Amino acid sequence: MSARGHAFGIDIGGSGVKGAQVDLATGLLTHDRIKIATPQPSTPDAVAGAVAELVAKAGWDGPVGLTMPCVVLDGEARTAANIDKAWIGTDTRALFSAALGGREVTVLNDADAAGLAEDTYGAARDLDGLTLLLTFGTGIGSALLYNGTLVPNSELGHLVVDGAEAEHLAAASVKDREELSYPQWAHRVSTVLRTLEDLFWPKVIVAGGGISRDHEQWIPLLTNRTPVIPAVLKNTAGIVGAAMAVADGIAP
Ligand code: BGC
Repeated sequence: MSARGHAFGIDIGGSGVKGAQVDLATGLLTHDRIKIATPQPSTPDAVAGAVAELVAKAGWDGPVGLTMPCVVLDGEARTAANIDKAWIGTDTRALFSAALGGREVTVLNDADAAGLAEDTYGAARDLDGLTLLLTFGTGIGSALLYNGTLVPNSELGHLVVDGAEAEHLAAASVKDREELSYPQWAHRVSTVLRTLEDLFWPKVIVAGGGISRDHEQWIPLLTNRTPVIPAVLKNTAGIVGAAMAVADGIAP
């Protein structure tokens, strides 16, 4: 980690575009986050407009880091989950930089940003070795970090486990849709975690996403072997990780 000032992070999701200035010495937001509903349809131009509006509202004129629910490679969105498919093939860096008057931007996957934030300021901050963060939400996002260095775009939510993609088996949205109890859902999560730990052998698994707020109800029920700890940054992890990425020049 090098830069230690303030940076601005924006987390773009299917329902909201959320952003705030981040104090990189602490990983805390300096002001309340600003939220704008994600335009529908969530096309690149419409979302870029929302991003420009948010940054203007915040009165921020420095570099901006952004997360997207996409694989992002050399600034180009290569997949699009829960966001308009028109993103695929878009040069997100050029788009957002132009929308923000040509300033410096970096764009990375949403779970990767959350992983960076949890690894530096949150649940995994004092741990070395390999950390795996999973976000349980509409899908399952993943971030792999080795001694603080991100291995970007791991996309482990799409790993096939028991004949189905992990996120189709055990995302938080699946629990809601199929009206699973916590024990039923935890059983499925354990199956996914056992597969992942047999392949990657992380020292710790950080569980993120909104459902990590209810961790007492399901983490104790897991039967995999690697310790699972709840994320601590909750709904700021994406914003904080995005701000870190632009300050530290992480540009997957
Ligand atoms: C996407 C990932 C994303 C995750 C969480 C998955 O469906 O493929 O890129 O990180 O959802 O939004």
